[in-house]
Amino acid sequence: MKIAFFDSGIGGLSVLAEALRRFSGAEFLYFADEDHVPYGTKSRAEIVRLSLDAVGFLVAHGADAVVVACNTATSAAISELRGAFSVPVIGMEPAVKLAADSFGARPTLLIATPLTIAGEKLARLVGRLECETWSLPLPRLVEFAQDLEFDSPAVRAYLREELAKFELERLGSLVLGCTHFNYFKDVLHEILPPHVRIIDGIDGTLNRLASELGGGLKLACGEDLPSRATKFNTGGDIKFNANSQTGELDAILERDGKLAVNARGVEQCDEDKCRMSPRAVAANSQLKLYSRGGADLSLEFEPRSEEAGISRVNYPNGNSVEYFYSSRALDAAQLHKVEIFLKRLDAMRAID
Ligand code: DGL
Repeated sequence: MKIAFFDSGIGGLSVLAEALRRFSGAEFLYFADEDHVPYGTKSRAEIVRLSLDAVGFLVAHGADAVVVACNTATSAAISELRGAFSVPVIGMEPAVKLAADSFGARPTLLIATPLTIAGEKLARLVGRLECETWSLPLPRLVEFAQDLEFDSPAVRAYLREELAKFELERLGSLVLGCTHFNYFKDVLHEILPPHVRIIDGIDGTLNRLASELGGGLKLACGEDLPSRATKFNTGGDIKFNANSQTGELDAILERDGKLAVNARGVEQCDEDKCRMSPRAVAANSQLKLYSRGGADLSLEFEPRSEEAGISRVNYPNGNSVEYFYSSRALDAAQLHKVEIFLKRLDAMRAID
């Protein structure tokens, strides 16, 4: 079963990152519409057209379900998407209801793109709430994220100036109504009074995905294998997140003894971990594994992903992701940037 995530850009990686942590053995597709980001300042009609193209591409690539990991595309195009495709399409809405239910004694501040804030969908959602809900469009934050500018003086100055328009001391929570805003949780926390909670709505979206698929996704058995742990890329350009100074690292084995890599010829290991040398991978396409007992195990990797025109990455928990920027596979440099985004999101995860 293939599950696709779609966003205008890199914001939806925040939802994907959580899915990688929560599920196991899943095949994911990720589509960032890098040719057309940002969506939040475009017309509704344009976003409908772009979203239909993106989801059409994903369905043609075998998606059995699509998560629109973008509040803006959900606001503009969810009905059209559901009308056009027979696979389940899960949308993403600002979690203002959760905020109201949890911290509704005080006002909620929703930050989102201009299109989401002006949308009828949000007006209906907020209209049903008892809680006082303020909203603030922050289109520049999308651009900062796309430019990998997360906590620069310019970002801080922009957020300070925009948030100063509100009586922050009165707030109960801040709702991130745009998936790109997940990259800024630390800076937002610095600026907001300490009692204000930040709510992102990712869990609710993944809960809906899981219930929509009725058991089609396996949970990662409560194991928390962070995405910054050992990661394997089936391409020749393998990047390891090794912390050791020796250039070697630990590979995490799944419970059933199989390695969490997309490889053939893996033999059973009776220990929890193997040591491996990245240099062996660079030298030839064979990866040598050494169990703690000293016996050699060999792994054959699939053909280089770039040659095959595929940018698929394998992660712990036996999950894999095939990445697309608009309809193109990513090159090694772009995949490296995705790593930076995922690491940043990993660090932001602890905040609220
Ligand atoms: N990440 C998107 C969202 O959740 C939109 C960002 C944009 O392209 O403007 O709303």
